[in-house]
Amino acid sequence: MGIVNRKVVLVSRPDGRPDDSNFRYLEEDVAPLEDGQVLVAVDLLGIDAFIRTTLNEGSFHRGAQIGGVIPALGVGEVLDSRDAGFVAGDKVFGPLSSQTHAVMPAFTLRKLDTAVAPANAWLGALGLTTGLTAYFGIVDVGRVKKGDTVVVSGAAGAVGSMAGQIARLSGADKVIGIAGGRHKTTFLVEELGFDAAIDYRNENVGARLDELAPNGIDVFFDNVGGEILDDVLMRIVEGSRIVICGAISQYEKMDDVRGPRNYLKLAERHASMEGFAVFHFAQHYARGEGQLAQWYRNGDIIMREQIEHGVENFPAVMNMLMTGGHHGKLLLKV
Ligand SMILES: NC(=O)c1ccc[n+]([C@@H]2O[C@H](COP(=O)([O-])OP(=O)(O)OC[C@H]3O[C@@H](n4cnc5c(N)ncnc54)[C@H](OP(=O)(O)O)[C@@H]3O)[C@@H](O)[C@H]2O)c1
Repeated sequence: MGIVNRKVVLVSRPDGRPDDSNFRYLEEDVAPLEDGQVLVAVDLLGIDAFIRTTLNEGSFHRGAQIGGVIPALGVGEVLDSRDAGFVAGDKVFGPLSSQTHAVMPAFTLRKLDTAVAPANAWLGALGLTTGLTAYFGIVDVGRVKKGDTVVVSGAAGAVGSMAGQIARLSGADKVIGIAGGRHKTTFLVEELGFDAAIDYRNENVGARLDELAPNGIDVFFDNVGGEILDDVLMRIVEGSRIVICGAISQYEKMDDVRGPRNYLKLAERHASMEGFAVFHFAQHYARGEGQLAQWYRNGDIIMREQIEHGVENFPAVMNMLMTGGHHGKLLLKV
């Protein structure tokens, strides 16, 4: 009997929060490989915020097709290969998507060096959409330097928790995280070494920023957008750098995204607001990975992982990103 692929496909595009009616769980036999293809047994999928945006029509990221699997980065093991670059047993990383077995063009896969770090770390601390994103956002876009006061939103999530730690390693004097719930603010301060954290669900963000950063904010690493971005803009200093990494508060209403009300503070303070996508730094991945691997080996960065189970739970786990139901890197063991 052949190998059975268990997968979740998109059947309709969600309007707002996705629900079960937007997805279907299917099982099908894996087709024989063609030249240049590799069969991968998927182990872990990274549940990243960009996945939600792929469900929208005309998504910036390569969109999910109706009837197709949902894009997600993952790690797994090669079961069979018709490409000279891969053999059975290789551990690989790639856009494996919402399924248990992926037939991939070889050029989309990368062989992992598990001597440097275990496979899961290549999705988290060293991962493209987590560690590397935080690294380039803090180091190259935010240009964090000694003495800076740095604020990070979405701070207890994957990118945010890395961004705060990298800001500290880059010389920041004070690192303040913004996250939802007391358990997350405690995690930021007690486990990750942030100087302070604001619970945006239960505290007044502006008033708390005034207390915690009375001299203003030099760098803001924003994952959230909306009200929180406006609160920070009111408190920037001359020459501040606002890093637009993402705007998760807007992802369920992408046809009605509103810009910041307080953007004129940029002019008043000669400040800059710069967005980026990690792939804009493709020429510099080796530098970022080298630095992250060194910090990882030395125990200078901590990546909390939350592992959920079962490919059929892909939609529910994806929604946890919107409801804040996880700490650190959210992973799905398929
Ligand atoms: N520029 C790039 O190349 C790039 C690459 C990767 C990721 N990103 C961006 O980085 C951000 C984080 O992504 P991630 O994959 O690491 O996800 P994540 O931070 O692990 O999870 C998302 C978090 O966002 C928070 N959140 C959700 N809705 C919110 C809202 N309305 N207001 C405030 N906070 C909200 C939730 O935490 P709370 O419990 O704290 O609400 C949730 O845990 C996203 O904006 C993503 O698009 C950008």
